[in-house]
Amino acid sequence: MSTPSSPVMLVTGATSGIGWALARAATAEGYQVVGCGRDQARLMALEREVALALTLDVTDDQSVRLGVDTVRDRFGRVDVVVHNAGIGFFADPAETGPAEVARVMETNLLGAVRLNHALLPELLQHGTGTICVVASVAGRRGYPKHTAYCASKHALIGWARALQKDLRGTGLSVVTVCPPAVDTPFFENAGYTTFAEDHAGMRLMSAEVAAAGILAAIERRSPMSLLGRRAQALFALDRAAPQALDRIQQLRDRLLRRG
Ligand SMILES: NC(=O)c1ccc[n+]([C@@H]2O[C@H](COP(=O)([O-])OP(=O)(O)OC[C@H]3O[C@@H](n4cnc5c(N)ncnc54)[C@H](OP(=O)(O)O)[C@@H]3O)[C@@H](O)[C@H]2O)c1
Repeated sequence: MSTPSSPVMLVTGATSGIGWALARAATAEGYQVVGCGRDQARLMALEREVALALTLDVTDDQSVRLGVDTVRDRFGRVDVVVHNAGIGFFADPAETGPAEVARVMETNLLGAVRLNHALLPELLQHGTGTICVVASVAGRRGYPKHTAYCASKHALIGWARALQKDLRGTGLSVVTVCPPAVDTPFFENAGYTTFAEDHAGMRLMSAEVAAAGILAAIERRSPMSLLGRRAQALFALDRAAPQALDRIQQLRDRLLRRG
């Protein structure tokens, strides 16, 4: 149960999937959660779950400024900001030109940069707090049909790593979390209708498990977390023998395609 002195957590992309589950889990842990998004019907439903449901489009300077002003007026501070809003685009490279990459970057990278830039002066003034970035395993490795999405998440991780260095000694922590594939409307929203077919047999993490992992990373102030034992094993193998891992994945994909 939160009180007016409970820490304030702002979560972008809280109208669906991982952000929705995180907003609920953090509220249950006693945070005053500001859940953000654009979808008005989902924001009305979110209003019943969190301290404040806020219209905030991370691609729009004015929307971000208004959102930050509203939070300042209502709570006076932000203790944790979770840059979670994100979109996907999954297609062959021939269908992924600069316009497609720019659109994904605008939300996944510049959305976080824009909101962070608007909040940073007061975070610094407050002298304590956590900036959490929801990246992806696709920010650490390349995947087929993922050029735009992988570019955005690699860039987001690079931004977060450099930000962490810049903020040393300020009392602010930067926490990056990389979920594996999670069972949310994300791929469907991105128009990737053959995701299940292309990844037959793959077990998806639930949004609630991903949210619990993000919350734990925030509470530990862990600089980089890979969620899920399978992803952790995969990345250990990737570090030790990247080409062997590529060969195993190609073989697996061929076997799955043959059915
Ligand atoms: N699902 C996965 O397999 C997976 C795996 C690894 C990482 N991730 C990352 O996890 C994050 C959440 O994904 P999800 O799976 O929960 O997807 P989702 O269910 O599609 O949710 C995406 C959220 O982002 C919000 N959003 C999109 N564009 C926005 C914008 N311009 N301004 C503000 N909010 C915006 C959406 O809200 P509105 O439509 O209301 O604006 C929605 O709440 C993303 O960053 C994604 O890249 C997902």
